[in-house]
This record gives sequence, C-alpha cells and structure tokens, in this order.
Amino acid sequence: MTQHPVTTRLLTTKAELREARAAMEGTVAAVLTMGSLHAGHLALVRRARELADHVILTDFVNPLQFGPGEDYEAYPRDLEADLALVDSLVDVVFAPSTAEMYPVLPPTVSVSAGRAGRILEGAARPGHFDGVVTVVAKLLRLTDAHLSVFGRKDAQQLAIIQRLVADLDLPVRIEAVEIQRERSGLARSSRNAYLTAAGREQALALSRTVAAARDAAPSLPALRQVLSTAVERGEIDWDYALALDPTTLEEAGADHQGRC
Ligand code: PAF
Repeated sequence: MTQHPVTTRLLTTKAELREARAAMEGTVAAVLTMGSLHAGHLALVRRARELADHVILTDFVNPLQFGPGEDYEAYPRDLEADLALVDSLVDVVFAPSTAEMYPVLPPTVSVSAGRAGRILEGAARPGHFDGVVTVVAKLLRLTDAHLSVFGRKDAQQLAIIQRLVADLDLPVRIEAVEIQRERSGLARSSRNAYLTAAGREQALALSRTVAAARDAAPSLPALRQVLSTAVERGEIDWDYALALDPTTLEEAGADHQGRC
C-alpha cells in the first residue's frame, strides 16, 4: 500500500514510538529485526509496504535470545548502514537501547515458547526461543501493529511466533515471506558474515543435498537414505534431521547428530 517514498524517523524510546504510532492513520506493519540489514530484510519491508499504510522497522539485538558463550557481543551492529538501507522505505526505525527495552534484565516475567522451543535449534540453544517470544511479544505490543512480516528461513521461529500470536490471542496477523537467497543459492543471513570460504561451500552443499534429497526422495526413509549417504561421504554434517508438521512442529520422525 505504501508505494510512495516516506520520511524515515529514527526513534529510540518507547514514549517516542507510542507518540509516532498514535499519529499513524490506517494499517501498520511491523518488521522486527536485529539490524545488520540485508536484501532478505528488504524483502520483508517490501511485503510490509504492499500490505499496510505504514511500516515500523525495529532494530534491536535482543540479549535474551543469546545463550552464554554465544555471539551477543560480536553480533554485527551498524545502525548508520541500516538507516541508509531502509531510508524512505519505512516510516519509523525503532532502535532502543537494552536498558530502554529491559529496565530489569533478565525481566521478572517472560514468555515461554514451550515444547516447540526446546526441540531442533532449541535443543542446542536452551532458552533461545523463550528470549525470542519475549521480545517479539513486547515489540508487537509497542508497535501495536496490525500485521508483522517474518521470513521462512527461520522456519522454527516462524512457527513458534504463529503459536505465540494464537495462544496469547495477540491482535496481529503474521505474514510469511519466502527465503531470500544469494546468487550462489545461500540463504541470506546477517550471520553469513561469519562464514569462511570453506564454511560457505559446506553451507551450500547442505542446502543442495537437502533440496536434491527432497526432490528425489519424497518418502521419509528414502530421504534419510540420501542424507546418510551424503554424511558418509563427508559431503555434509548436521545436528538434527526431522520431518515436522510446519504449523504444530509435531514430529513425523526424528533423528539427531548426523545419524539417520
Ligand atoms: O529473526 C530475528 O531477527 C530475531 O529473532 C527477532 C524476531 C527480531 C527477535 O529478536
């Protein structure tokens, strides 16, 4: 809907955001990010602009979703570059400080992602999805958005956020956007900046193998066979391989640590 250029404002306090939000007429879409924006985020912004009259982009590296020893300190941050990338595309960039978001850290009350947050990525990163749903609930409340746009790249995150909205009756619609890939086929991610040339090759080999296995072997046992052959050949490695219902994350079959 918002096809004309807008004047982007940088806001850093909840009070400023509330005031700006109150002045917005029509529909509002929120694009929640941890900054370090790239073309994948721009696809979310484009979709948000198609669907709503106003777009609020949040840019906040959420400490609650990083475990001890993870990359919270090192996570790439460049607010100037982020602002330049989305300038005239979003109405507001909300980039609060940690103290503004969490006057008490960790907060006394937080949200649990439940069982869905303890499997797959959540098994390797205890508490990660609880941190995600806590900040998402806060940001959806603060932006008071009619809809919010998320990428399918983080499939588990998307399913859990859909559950958050349904289970807590949050008055917001979640829109999903397809995975955005580099020309090489690698899914776009802020953390791609960490990849060495060899790491990039491995990541590509993994997505190529999974795609080929999916196309060649529609049944779960056959899929496992293709994947285990690739593991035996040393072409790929993985932490988990599961077939799940994309909405409920209920398992159709599971295996861990490269066995299948
Ligand atoms: O996907 C992300 O960038 C983050 O997990 C999110 C949803 C912005 C919450 O911090």
